Amino acid sequence: MTPPACDVPVITIDGPSASGKGTVAERAAAALGFHFLDSGALYRLTALSAMKHGVALDDAPRVAELAACLPASFRDGMVWLADENVTDAIRAEAVSAGASKVAVLPAVRAALLDRQRAYCQLPGLVADGRDMGTVVFAAAMAKVFLTASAEARAERRYKQLIEKGNSASLADLVADMQARDARDTARSVAPLKPAPDALLLDTTHMDIESAVQAVLAHYAACRIPVQQGN
Ligand code: DC
Repeated sequence: MTPPACDVPVITIDGPSASGKGTVAERAAAALGFHFLDSGALYRLTALSAMKHGVALDDAPRVAELAACLPASFRDGMVWLADENVTDAIRAEAVSAGASKVAVLPAVRAALLDRQRAYCQLPGLVADGRDMGTVVFAAAMAKVFLTASAEARAERRYKQLIEKGNSASLADLVADMQARDARDTARSVAPLKPAPDALLLDTTHMDIESAVQAVLAHYAACRIPVQQGN
């Protein structure tokens, strides 16, 4: 399905898990005063909602029904499902695994399309996910595909876990990243891949601030109208 043209400036940031795209997208949105869409949170909320309702994660019609009427909201940096603050709950390991299961269901992806596109509002939007530039906002003004080696991403996740007082194995995390990458890129619906017109940004040796600046520079370059007759 061809996405509707959107007059609002949209920056899409796609990439594999732990590539830093969430932080980069959020900071770029703040710098520009744009709205921010964390599309992964919608898949996580769908999985959490299914788990709460006792719906099997592979029951496509019922999970899609829940996704279509998700009572989700994002307020003050927190994530809500109806009246419940689920900011931490959606990051739990079981919900992460559940999100990657419901994300392969075409009916669920279709049910979340309009909800994601509703974020396309002035003054602009920065959307982060896996298929923002290829499917959801295929007509976006500026697209970035953020990546980093599996080792670098595993190391970042390792540091986060250790800082939070959790134990972790770097080797297990590298293996986990590689398995997730394989699953995300191999799925038949909206596989993880750069849009043909996306800027490829490898952050293996780049800090967050440099990545944000690269995104903002790319957006500024995309905004310059093509000179007629040149
Ligand atoms: O970005 P994240 O880790 O919060 O994403 C959670 C899950 O949802 C992950 O398995 C990938 C999937 N996802 C997706 O399929 N498409 C998106 N646009 C965003 C996330």
